[in-house]
Amino acid sequence: MIKTRITEMFGIKYPILSAPMGPFYTTELSVAVSEAGGLGVVSHATLRGKNSLQDMKQQLEYVIEHTDKPFGVNVRTARIQTDHKLMLRKMTQWCKENSKLREQLVYILTSAGSPRFASQLLKQRAPQIKHFHVGPALWLIDKIVGSGCDGIVATGTEGGGHQSYEGISTLVLVQQAVIKYPDKPVIACGGISSPEGVASGLAMGADAVAMGTRFIASKESEFHPNYKALIPPATARDTLLTTGGFGPIRLLKNKYSLEHGEIMTKEQKVSQELAYNMDEYLKDLYAYEVVYTKGDIENGAIPVGQTCGLIDSIMDVDDIITSFSDGAEKILKDLCSKIS
Ligand SMILES: Cc1cc2nc3c(=O)[nH]c(=O)nc-3n(C[C@H](O)[C@H](O)[C@H](O)COP(=O)(O)O)c2cc1C
Repeated sequence: MIKTRITEMFGIKYPILSAPMGPFYTTELSVAVSEAGGLGVVSHATLRGKNSLQDMKQQLEYVIEHTDKPFGVNVRTARIQTDHKLMLRKMTQWCKENSKLREQLVYILTSAGSPRFASQLLKQRAPQIKHFHVGPALWLIDKIVGSGCDGIVATGTEGGGHQSYEGISTLVLVQQAVIKYPDKPVIACGGISSPEGVASGLAMGADAVAMGTRFIASKESEFHPNYKALIPPATARDTLLTTGGFGPIRLLKNKYSLEHGEIMTKEQKVSQELAYNMDEYLKDLYAYEVVYTKGDIENGAIPVGQTCGLIDSIMDVDDIITSFSDGAEKILKDLCSKIS
């Protein structure tokens, strides 16, 4: 058994979390990850596009109906994610009204914007929930710590989905985070998809790892079979960074991503966002919707990380978690035995 600050903090068996993957749904996946002894994380999904608050409430209720284990949820706090403040307020209210939810919802991960509002709100209204924020560069990790978050998800550029303009690898970022903030729990994320990856994250001083792409290619994830099937044959060179709703996004190379424009700087992105209208946003969202609902892998956007070069099969969530954790334990023990 590997015991870390994260396994203790959340009362979980293994130091493994699933990464949130909005705008898609990871509700079933979260149940499977939490049931297997990791910590499942529900995504801030916006695909149904109707009432996002009601939709989120249904997802949380679904999870607590299907598992008694702890779990977490992601809220994207980007400016264009206009529902985030109300979403956070509502979550604290739902926890007050529902004791099972209050007991099981142990982790809120904010990302893609500022952690400040969430940090203040949660400290006041739901101090039992641990609040982490995604940090893709050291200066952003400084802000996370300055905002009073309970921990950091250090996410490097190898990972799937939205990335920052910083382009820092997980290897460098995790070292920076643990050296500068030894008292804060750190979750290593991006590019991890093997027992070796789990062991190296822990060896660097992270308290857990989070994986996205590996869990897409699992039997329990609710991604379209066409999407899942792309991952085992893909190589680590088959992804690219293009422009997404919240900045650069790592997608699998296909018609959509190769034709999509690339915005290289934050300044360009801010001016694009200022000119952004709802029609364009919805058009972009459509590219995610068609791949999720119809499995259109040509015209759709397919976020995956470079770890698709490590994944060669669709696995059960339980097998991923136990084999990665047991494998990491063995690697770390073998290493210790080499120390005289
Ligand atoms: C399909 C997909 C969707 C994602 N959506 C989100 C999201 O809504 N919020 C977020 O914080 N990160 C999102 N991410 C990033 C993941 O949470 C995580 O950082 C990434 O998957 C880690 O890299 P890995 O894929 O190599 O494991 C997404 C990633 C993928 C692959």
